[in-house]
Amino acid sequence: MPQITFIEYSDKSHCVDAETGKSLMQIAIDHGIPGIDADCGGSCACGTCHVIVHETWQGKLPTAQEEEMAMLDMTPEPQPGSRLSCQLTVTDALDGLVVRLPEFQM
Ligand code: FES
Repeated sequence: MPQITFIEYSDKSHCVDAETGKSLMQIAIDHGIPGIDADCGGSCACGTCHVIVHETWQGKLPTAQEEEMAMLDMTPEPQPGSRLSCQLTVTDALDGLVVRLPEFQM
């Protein structure tokens, strides 16, 4: 089972076992990670599941689709590694992934 690390804005770190096939957002919710609101339930319509992918992982993830990019443009302070965690599906290839949480969601 891949392990994924979520780092809160305060630098508090949570390393969790992630079930493959679920979205990264759902993994965060399942493990009670603070800072992921996921108001739309994962339909790419709210932008409140924003995470910033660690720079060593940014080129290893599937490219964001147009809908995700449009929603990310509306998030406060989008960054180069910004992604919507509901649009990333956990696979074994993501073992070791590290994402940071922004200070605020939308
Ligand atoms: S949960 Fe709403 S955009 Fe990801």
